[in-house]
Amino acid sequence: MNLSTKFLGIKMVNSLVLASGILGVTGSNLAAVCRDGCGAATTKSIWLKFHAGHANPTVLHLGNGNLINAVGLPHGGIEEARVEIESFRKLSKSPLFASIAGSRLEEYAATVEAVAKLKPDLIELNISCPNVEDEFGKPFACDVNLAAEATKLAKARCGKIPLAVKLSPNVANIAQIAKAVEAAGADAIVAINTVGPGMVIDIETAQPILANRVGGLSGPAVKPVAVKAVYDIYKAVKIPIIGVGGISSGRDAIEIMQAGATLVGVGSAVVDGGSEVFAKIAKEMEAWCKQHKIKNISEVIGLAHRS
Ligand code: FUM
Repeated sequence: MNLSTKFLGIKMVNSLVLASGILGVTGSNLAAVCRDGCGAATTKSIWLKFHAGHANPTVLHLGNGNLINAVGLPHGGIEEARVEIESFRKLSKSPLFASIAGSRLEEYAATVEAVAKLKPDLIELNISCPNVEDEFGKPFACDVNLAAEATKLAKARCGKIPLAVKLSPNVANIAQIAKAVEAAGADAIVAINTVGPGMVIDIETAQPILANRVGGLSGPAVKPVAVKAVYDIYKAVKIPIIGVGGISSGRDAIEIMQAGATLVGVGSAVVDGGSEVFAKIAKEMEAWCKQHKIKNISEVIGLAHRS
């Protein structure tokens, strides 16, 4: 049984991807995660210029692997991204996905243009962070027209690099947004970003604990939301999906692939279990496939849609 796959022409040892914002702080971190068994790694979301992010506390552990975070997309700017990507390339031959942040449409476009020159294997347009609303308003992924416009501007600046658009579950109809970004030129969808926003209050001080007061939920509790989002998107579009949300085992990965994901992003499980989780998930996927006489992992994609 071979887990290797090809995604939009990108060769990968397996279907597992390090989600953006997790351990992706330096090129050597990213290369280490690839050595530990993920098929591709995603950088933290890149800004053109320095962006501070939020003060601490930014992440709370809610138990059972679930998290609430409002890190606020901190990043040093395009020169930091250049150093990160160049050092990754020296250390690893694995594919690297570059995530892009922004506040205005023109800023997203300029950042995509700058990042495309660094030649990542794929550009992920992060238009769905729920943790910067106070600074920039609702994420573009919550508005069908803005999501499409951001995609169109980005696609025009990607050159030959495939463009994936990361969507928010915090909308009435994620499939409709997916259709709109597909029509605007997206090559793939990443679903989902974190759920919420939510709030945790310290009852002794009667104050929200996160410095940003609210944050996005992730971990096993959101997996059913991610599976449903991927299921709905798979029915609505023809482009492939990277399914993300609460994946921590081989069975979870198979489940989201059966819903329609071609690749599987892993985030919170890495925060809790370290990058060793990739080898564990891959081994469990392989065992499941052997047991079910599946020769190629692609046979699993969309199985839940059989009538
Ligand atoms: O707060 C954060 O940096 C989260 C980013 C995201 O969810 O995209």
